[in-house]
This record gives sequence, structure tokens and C-alpha cells, in this order.
Amino acid sequence: MLEKLIPAKADPILGLGKLFAADARENKIDLGVGVYKDADGKTPIMTAVKKAEVRLHAEQTSKSYKALAGDEVFRDEMRKLVLGDAVAADRVATLQAPGGTGALHQLFEAMKLLNPDATIWVSNPSWPSHVAMAKHLGFKTENYDYFDPATSGVDFNGLMVSLQGMQAGDMLVLHGCCHNPTGANLTANQWQSITDLVLEKNVMPLVDIAYQGFGDGLQEDAIYMRTMASRMPEMMVAASCSKNFGLYRDRVGCAMVIAKDADSATVTQGNLATLNRMNYSFAPDHGAALVAIILSDSELRAEWEAELEEMRLAMLTVREDLAEALRQQCNSDHFDFIKDHRGMFSRLGLSPEQVEMLRVDHGMYVVGDSRINVPGLSGGRVAPFAKAVSMVANI
Ligand code: LMR
Repeated sequence: MLEKLIPAKADPILGLGKLFAADARENKIDLGVGVYKDADGKTPIMTAVKKAEVRLHAEQTSKSYKALAGDEVFRDEMRKLVLGDAVAADRVATLQAPGGTGALHQLFEAMKLLNPDATIWVSNPSWPSHVAMAKHLGFKTENYDYFDPATSGVDFNGLMVSLQGMQAGDMLVLHGCCHNPTGANLTANQWQSITDLVLEKNVMPLVDIAYQGFGDGLQEDAIYMRTMASRMPEMMVAASCSKNFGLYRDRVGCAMVIAKDADSATVTQGNLATLNRMNYSFAPDHGAALVAIILSDSELRAEWEAELEEMRLAMLTVREDLAEALRQQCNSDHFDFIKDHRGMFSRLGLSPEQVEMLRVDHGMYVVGDSRINVPGLSGGRVAPFAKAVSMVANI
């Protein structure tokens, strides 16, 4: 039967890592997959995570199963971290999942129970797995306009026009903060207008928040989404701990479903647990146990928040430095938008040919749509990158 398989396409983001590893050039720079990097180009284990691991090692007495929906302390702490007090706790069903991707998967599965005929609306552009996963699960998908290449900001008029096409029972995927891949984000007023439209159209919002703390701050990054949550009778949220806790390979995520009342949340909670059972039984425990320890211990939490803030500020410094270096190299303010973008990524607006030239001629690995992983430029990598960009861009 296996002859029926056709060769799988390389993942547009992860595939780049293989090419990078095979490149023998010493001065090559990897700006592909979204992982935080320090000035040495390393992705560190956060100190609060290390300390929590020591504590877990000393105190854990069993590896037996926990609840099907996941660890209760983890889920409750994640609800508070992401939603604050925007929604009463008894209206929120929560599910521990393997990473933000696992949380998204489970929420798409939940949507299948609600309306298998829904169209899933995804920004153009978006993280490629949004559309790929929705299609894989049998949904129709539509893109909504999001990015204005002329300004490198949000095309909000285009967005609102596209979203007029949403039908009752559809799902709208929004990025909670730090839009991936563009780095261009919605304002408070724009979130309000989208919320008005979603309420009018009776659509289910699914907010993917994978970079909380990487944009304007831990609370600031959640605030617009929380305002939306406080107005919605029903809403879904997929949160990831990959980036803000640096727990990438441990796979830690949390799916949340806001229900109209406590009774509905109880039924939803049971259904979410069943979805875990149907897919993999239990989500991995180790990373979630670390997050639970950190978030429920004031000292460790303060240490984690301080380190996260350091990472955020380091990314902002790279943004300032890159915009300035490109000003000098190109003798133009064309790339100033990099300073206004927030999060791990910026879309530079280069053509696929220019991206290819960056890779082949200069050893600079940028995702095909010209997305750069901003922290990949720390540690003195801004100058050579700006030089290479100025050589391939027609500015
Ligand atoms: C990215 O966009 O680079 C990250 O979210 C990692 C991934 O899984 O694609």
C-alpha cells in the first residue's frame, strides 16, 4: 500500500534548518525557525526552568497518570496567565496539550464537533500550519487580507472587507500578539471592530497566542485578546509555552474554551478530555509540571518574568539596530517598519528570488516569504545581515 504515498513536501520553516546545517560557510546566519537565541547564538534553558527541574526531580514521587485533561494547577495557572480575570473561571474549560500546535489541533477537533462544515478563516499570510492543519482535518479554509506590503503594516480595510464573507458557524483564527510571520499587529480599536463583527456574524474566534511576553510585555500582549474574551459568549484560545518558557521540545501548550455559562463549560470540559483520549490519551507531563511550579511560586515566577523581559528587550534592541543599519546601508528609511513590528518575526518584503540570493550568495537563511527570526541576529549579526540585504534589495 505504501506505494500510494507521494514524497512529502519539506516544511516551509523546518526544511530550512536542514539546508542551514549542510552549509559549510562559517559566517552563515540562521534566521529560520522561531526559536529565541542569545548573543552566542544559543537557545538557553531559562534559569527558572532549570530550578523548577531540580525541584521536580527532588519532589516527584510517581510517574503515574494524571487527569486526562492534564494537570489542574498547570491549567488553572495558564488560564490566569492568558485570560487574567477577563472571564469567570467557571466559564473556561482547559486542556493540557502537546505544545501550542497540539492545543490548536485539539481546538480544531472541538470545532469539528460543533460544525464540521465550518470555513476556517486565516490571515494572509499566517503561520503555514494554520491552513495546513485545518485542511488536514477536513475543513474548508479562506484567507482574509492582513498585510499591506506597501507599508509593511496591517491592511485593516482589506481585513474588514474580507471578513464580511464569514458565515454564521465559521471560525476566525486570530494571532493574539506578535503576528507570525509579519510582525505587524492589530491595535486596540481594530480588535474591538473585529469583535463587533464576530458577534454580529456569530462566528467562533480562535486566538492563537504563542508569543505572550515577546511583544510589548506579558500583560500588554494579552490585553486586547482579553477584552475580546470579556465580550464573547464563546471563544477558543490556544496558548503555547514553547517560546516564553523556552520549552520547545518538551511540548507544552494549553487549549482553552470559553463557554457561555458554567454548565456549558462543564460539558465542554468533558468533551475536551475525551479529545485527548481519542488522540493520544495524556499530554506530556514534564514541561507542564515545570510551568505549574514556576507560575505558582512567587520567587520562581518573578525570576521567569525578569528573564522573559530581558529576552523581549534584547529583541527590541535588535530591531532598533537592524533598522538603523539598513538606513545606513540603503541610504533610505524603507526598512524603518522593523522598529514598529513586534515579536520574534518581521517580514522584510523581499521577493523569493532575493531570499534565494541571500541564502545562496550570502549564507543568510530567511524563510521563503522573507520572514526573519529577529533574535537570530543578536551577537553582532546585524551588520553583516544588513549589508547582505542592501546588496540584494532594490532600494
Ligand atoms: C515558527 O513559526 O518558526 C515556529 O512557530 C516554529 C514552528 O513550529 O513553525
